[in-house]
Amino acid sequence: MSHISEPVSAQYKRAAIIGGGVIGISWAGLFLARGIDVVINDPREDIEDLVLAGLDEIAPALAELGLPTESLSAGLSFEADLAKAVADVDIVQENGPERLELKQQIWQTIEQNAPAHALLATSTSTIPATAIAEAMQQPERLIVGHPFNPPHLVPLVEIVPGKQTSEATVQQANAFYAALGKKPQVLHKEIPGFVANRLQSAIFRECVYLVAQGVVTEQELDDIVTSSIGMRWAVAGPFRTFHLGGGPAGLPHFIEHLGRTMEASMWPALGNPTFDDATVALLTEQADEAFGNGTVEELAAERDRAQIALMRALGETPDAGNTRA
Ligand SMILES: NC(=O)c1ccc[n+]([C@@H]2O[C@H](COP(=O)([O-])OP(=O)(O)OC[C@H]3O[C@@H](n4cnc5c(N)ncnc54)[C@H](O)[C@@H]3O)[C@@H](O)[C@H]2O)c1
Repeated sequence: MSHISEPVSAQYKRAAIIGGGVIGISWAGLFLARGIDVVINDPREDIEDLVLAGLDEIAPALAELGLPTESLSAGLSFEADLAKAVADVDIVQENGPERLELKQQIWQTIEQNAPAHALLATSTSTIPATAIAEAMQQPERLIVGHPFNPPHLVPLVEIVPGKQTSEATVQQANAFYAALGKKPQVLHKEIPGFVANRLQSAIFRECVYLVAQGVVTEQELDDIVTSSIGMRWAVAGPFRTFHLGGGPAGLPHFIEHLGRTMEASMWPALGNPTFDDATVALLTEQADEAFGNGTVEELAAERDRAQIALMRALGETPDAGNTRA
């Protein structure tokens, strides 16, 4: 049996990207680099210029990942009519605004016009597939394929089935994102915010509290994270880390030894800040001080270069054989 996987483009020749904003452009770049033709549907009048400029911006990161970037736009087209955009595609990845009624409306049109074999995925960060599919005739076909921004770079895709999503759709989504070079993770239950964003949210709440209390500045807090838990969690997640922290007896010993203290004295002491005017003013002032000497684009490019170096060190860069030739 051959271990060489066939390119994702052998099965997925054409994709519809619905919503060509931050996430849609990033998915489009990755799909194109993987040899999948992309049709973009977005009502913005300047959508073509926006997407082409966006592709130019992410091309260096795609190239760093070993993916081809010279002829990306060769497979790109635009279609303002949603029904026509999805009529002849193998996958629909929807990245429209995060509004339930709008997504419900978009998906009703998509299911009536996309081919029966097409994978139907939404990038939503917060809305359960169950809610979006309420108005659909074939709710078993819809699944959340939630990327972590930027999708062309960060490996994780959270796959979140709705109550009526079929097992076949779950498996199809899992296989598609894996073939695309991503690290898909299927959640066993729908929960608001899914997993990665719930974790970010829990930690960010404490970050805001610590800065608002004057314990550290934003820059100092960021340095603490990148030189400790950030670095560590890239190689061992929180549970593995505390399993190792428990010594030879592992996690059960950690819980008895330190976990109970954490529960009794640390959990009740965690902060519960709000974004009141004074807090927002403080956070804004410190962000200007810490990050104000570069544009967001420059800082993002710098972060992406470091991120790719880390992925390379961890052997997490995708297999570049599976590309647009
Ligand atoms: N930004 C993130 O970090 C992030 C991460 C993961 C998932 N998501 C999810 O991805 C989706 C898109 O987020 P974004 O950050 O790219 O937003 P965005 O505002 O950058 O892009 C949304 C795009 O949808 C277009 N649009 C508006 N109405 C439309 C319609 N009827 N049909 C098709 N397109 C329409 C807009 O013109 C815009 O270009 C959301 O569901 C969001 O939750 C965002």
